[in-house]
Amino acid sequence: MTLLGIETSCDETAAAICRQGQILSSIVSSQVIHAKYGGVVPELASREHEKLLNQIVHKALKESCVQKQDIDAIAVTSGPGLAGTLLTGVSFAKGMGLGLNIPVIPINHLEAHIFANFLADPTLKYPFVCLLVSGGHTQLWYIQGINQYKLLGETRDDAAGEAFDKGARILGLGYPGGPAIEKEARGGNPLSHRFPRGLMGKESLEFSFSGLKTSLLYFMYDFQESDTMTKRDVIASYQQAIIDTLVEKLKRALKTTKAKTCVIAGGVAANKCLRNQLTDSLGNTRILFPDLSYCTDNAAMISFLGELKYSSENIYSLDFGVQPNLKLA
Ligand code: KG4
Ligand code: ZN
Repeated sequence: MTLLGIETSCDETAAAICRQGQILSSIVSSQVIHAKYGGVVPELASREHEKLLNQIVHKALKESCVQKQDIDAIAVTSGPGLAGTLLTGVSFAKGMGLGLNIPVIPINHLEAHIFANFLADPTLKYPFVCLLVSGGHTQLWYIQGINQYKLLGETRDDAAGEAFDKGARILGLGYPGGPAIEKEARGGNPLSHRFPRGLMGKESLEFSFSGLKTSLLYFMYDFQESDTMTKRDVIASYQQAIIDTLVEKLKRALKTTKAKTCVIAGGVAANKCLRNQLTDSLGNTRILFPDLSYCTDNAAMISFLGELKYSSENIYSLDFGVQPNLKLA
């Protein structure tokens, strides 16, 4: 079967075509308009989606050499995300679904991030632990099968991606903060300053990044570059504090569940330092990362999960709405 995937949960307008588990095309347009505001402006994001979505969908069709009439179903992100941006994608999908007389399948964005790992390795076996690290979520999941998810721990305040974004703003770097911090940290000494690591008590599988961000804010008030500490060193140390926390909590989750495989999902999974440090410190545990283009928001993961859901469940009703606070379990 052939599925069109649509993703508009935040500031990426994306469409993709998936056929029998293979991604035939994946088009992502990242909205640059938000950079000057240092974060996503929801109203502007909705307007951009509205303007772009039709051409992005047609580009995905053209690149995959698939005709509109060949699509069997449309998978669309229904939550979590920004209400207005989700509405643009869901309304577009419903209109197109009605026009073509095909089903529209609502997809949970978080679940799609996790399942993007099956695109990296279709032989991935359950059970596995997933570290989900995006702009809005930092969670540890125990995945035992499709629809069988157990939350092991999550952040009490900011998400890891948020820590990167807010940290970048304090440091005067661009938006999104993750790639900017990763770039500026290169060559810096990650041990030059020890920023706090939240909730490191022995058993905890929860995260907290708000103290780290505040600590950076105070540190930068009277920071002067010197021979012993450059700004690059501070940036590398800040990034290290985030990475250390993620690595340690994932290790604990693996110990608790005795799982032999773990996967990383969400935009922060694109961070190469995180990838390297996880690979170095997880010993014999099998670790999977999605392809870089499938870490940050994309529609390939939406179309792929849509196909899985379509074959296992029959969802034909258009009577669903957007769910900005949709949970996974
Ligand atoms: O999954 P995603 O694209 O959107 C959400 O579902 O939230 O994640 C976006 C987040 C942003 O906070 C961004 O700064 C972060 O992922 N991110 C990174 C990197 N690339 C994106 N964080 C660290 N290093 C990166 N290379
Ligand atoms: Zn996402």
